[in-house]
Amino acid sequence: MADYKMEAAKAAIKLIQPGQTIGLGAGSTIAALLALLAAEGSLAASLTLVSSSFKTTSLIREYGFNVQSIALTKSPDIYFDGCDQFDIELNALKSGGGIHTSEKILASLAAEFILIGDAGKFVNKLDATYPLVIEALPAALQLVQYQLFNHFPDAKINLRMGDKKDGAAISDNGNMLLDVYFTKLIPLDELNVLVKMVPGVVEHSLFYRMATRAIIAGPEGVRIMKPEY
Ligand code: 5RP
Repeated sequence: MADYKMEAAKAAIKLIQPGQTIGLGAGSTIAALLALLAAEGSLAASLTLVSSSFKTTSLIREYGFNVQSIALTKSPDIYFDGCDQFDIELNALKSGGGIHTSEKILASLAAEFILIGDAGKFVNKLDATYPLVIEALPAALQLVQYQLFNHFPDAKINLRMGDKKDGAAISDNGNMLLDVYFTKLIPLDELNVLVKMVPGVVEHSLFYRMATRAIIAGPEGVRIMKPEY
């Protein structure tokens, strides 16, 4: 069976120029891109990499690439990342990883933010398949849950729990993660602002009109998409 993530990664690597600073997100498509970069000795050695993901950063170190912290990164030339789902405007839900705050910081710093993945990620309009994830300050947990319930009485709001630890999953920034399962999404421009305005919300996992391109691969080949507003 064709490896569509690898096909998308092959198209993505063609956009990288020697000497650039490249941001990388999380997931298997990003891991495929890193493996390809590792095979490009001189290009790889010329790059500075920065990642929003602990796992990807560990891989970057294993490969021996130059790596920089997000705090010291001014403007990556390109930030590549996967997503759970994206639409025709390149709005994306990046919910599974629970690291959307760092991902949004890098996506906003970068000159270009490019989504990569297999064609199964694309839908015409984002739907309620995936939850919206909200990173919230621990002290604001009750307030955030209460205000979310008031805004979205039909939604199911779950505190994300740890897998191999008793209690809540703690984000990379020491915060709580709330998975909000909607029956139907409200207009994305409203959702984007409404959730962000709740006191104690650090960030949510909707990337509204942030991506500049998407590279997807599927049975019909590789497609490079631009946002259609
Ligand atoms: C999680 C994400 C990841 O980037 C995404 O899940 C990675 O997907 P894949 O492994 O298919 O490349 O946004 O929130």
